[in-house]
Amino acid sequence: MKNYENVTIFEHPLIQHKVAILRDEKTSTKEFRELVEEITTLMVYEALKDVPTKKVMVRTPLELTEQTMVADNAVSIVPILRAGLGMVNGVHTLFPLARVGHIGMYRNEETLQPCEYYCKLPDGIENSIAILLDPMLATGGSAVAAIDVLKKRGCKDIRLMNIIGAPIGVETVAEAHPDVKIYVSTLDRQLNDVGYILPGLGDAGDRLFGTK
Ligand code: PRP
Ligand code: URA
Repeated sequence: MKNYENVTIFEHPLIQHKVAILRDEKTSTKEFRELVEEITTLMVYEALKDVPTKKVMVRTPLELTEQTMVADNAVSIVPILRAGLGMVNGVHTLFPLARVGHIGMYRNEETLQPCEYYCKLPDGIENSIAILLDPMLATGGSAVAAIDVLKKRGCKDIRLMNIIGAPIGVETVAEAHPDVKIYVSTLDRQLNDVGYILPGLGDAGDRLFGTK
């Protein structure tokens, strides 16, 4: 795959360890959900190291001191329904006050084209960093369409977080939206002929919600 300035592939052993368990077909729904959250937290910790801050005064038992805290409304969370929902708590662990918008998107199983069926975004999202969540980046169609929606709402700093990405999906998003920062925990080999990622983990939504 080409090198893109705004693409980060995590190669942290802790993340790789958790992704290996996530892939296992024997991993239960409960454990799958927990792992998705934990991996998301690890990714967000790194991807938001430049989050805006504010100065606050804190009185310790000894004196008054100026300290640094995360700025108000610094980040918003936007899961792509359904599977992105599984990542929300992983962001809230670090940004408990972050507001959540939802973009409903499913892939047409024949054409693999994304269909948008829902969108509700918080007021003021355009002034925050929009963290767009989806565990799977396959063709990239859903992510490109969701980023289009966020840009139409005025979002200027969008960070896409995917747990598993296929090279074609990363390339498609990076070419369509070169200003968006893309964070993928693991880059997989390829898509199969029905658009599933190999080796992948199967259908992330079904595994998160136990629907199959
Ligand atoms: C999955 C996944 C992404 C999309 C990725 O969603 O969660 O949203 O496919 O594929 P793409 O990169 O080729 O667009 P799906 O359509 O299965 O919907 P679901 O989350 O409701 O199960
Ligand atoms: N969506 C999934 O859930 N899994 C894939 O492998 C591709 C798209």
